[in-house]
Amino acid sequence: RWQSSLPQLDHVDRSDVESGGEIDWDNLGFGLTPTDYMYVMRSSPEDLGAFPRGELCRYGNIELSPSSGVLNYAQGLFEGMKAYRRPGRAGYTLFRPEENARRMQFGAERMCMPAPSVDQFVNAVKETVLANRRWVPPQGKGALYLRPLLMGSGPILGLAPAPEYTFLIYAAPVGNYFKEGLAPINLVVDDEFHRAMPGGTGGVKTIANYAPVLKAQMDAKSKGFTDVLYLDSVHKRYLEEVSSCNVFVVKGGVVATPATKGTILPGITRKSVIELARDRGYKVEERLISIDDLIDADEVFCTGTAVVVAPVSAVTYQGRRHEFRTGPDTVSQELYTTLTSIQMGLAEDNKGWTV
Ligand code: COI
Repeated sequence: RWQSSLPQLDHVDRSDVESGGEIDWDNLGFGLTPTDYMYVMRSSPEDLGAFPRGELCRYGNIELSPSSGVLNYAQGLFEGMKAYRRPGRAGYTLFRPEENARRMQFGAERMCMPAPSVDQFVNAVKETVLANRRWVPPQGKGALYLRPLLMGSGPILGLAPAPEYTFLIYAAPVGNYFKEGLAPINLVVDDEFHRAMPGGTGGVKTIANYAPVLKAQMDAKSKGFTDVLYLDSVHKRYLEEVSSCNVFVVKGGVVATPATKGTILPGITRKSVIELARDRGYKVEERLISIDDLIDADEVFCTGTAVVVAPVSAVTYQGRRHEFRTGPDTVSQELYTTLTSIQMGLAEDNKGWTV
């Protein structure tokens, strides 16, 4: 079906479609390389909460009313996903795409928006990958990052849900998220700014969760830290998450991560790493983790779609730097290898996670 809705490739040399064109695959960071197509689907008031049809169109600017719900009241959600080129075979691998579809549905309920069905979502992702397949990096060089968006695109002035919604997916080839590459990162705990509060939207992937962390993140970067680790806003004592990823600590072979109770994003990488760690014989706890637990930990690492599994070498809290184990014999390295081997199609996927 994607081929029938695919507009003509006018500026693209067809010989490039499988080869990847002019991009420097060895130096992909997490920057935006515009690709050829995006997928767009709308839900108007007469559609009664359904998204009747979607289509691929040229990647480019979209038109929005100045009074759209997303621009005025941040009525919007996003997802992050990756497609990998399969080794030695034709095709591409997606990782648990139906989980992203369900998370978007869950978030849409919180944000009073209609959402695509799981099938619509997953098919739209597949169409977007295939239409942009020349941008899927060669094996081992990175992934095609998919960014599904759901937004209140209809005009609204008084505070209320927008009358029309747009679901859109765009894609960009990416490498490592942090400038450190695969090297360990260096975090700072911010006890002034908080990412979320009980009863708020920290547990859904709304766009409104991300701009508020920019100030803390910029301050941290200006002091040489990679990113910020946030504490809960009530006790200012328990770990929540990093700006763009979940956090784990390891102590004496026990792996622990903050429980998701509405203020923490239920990461799909987080959930997968928990399952893989249990399979490998680790005890895994989802619980409150205090700053003292963190300081006492052997290892700290972060997980996320963009971040994958990132080891943390140091965390600075109230001016004191605490260091953690990193390197080849760590739990985080073991989990990174286990996870990415499945994601990249290098290991047998016994769990049926890949599509
Ligand atoms: C992802 O990991 O895909 C995310 O959505 C986080 C984003 C801030 C890069």
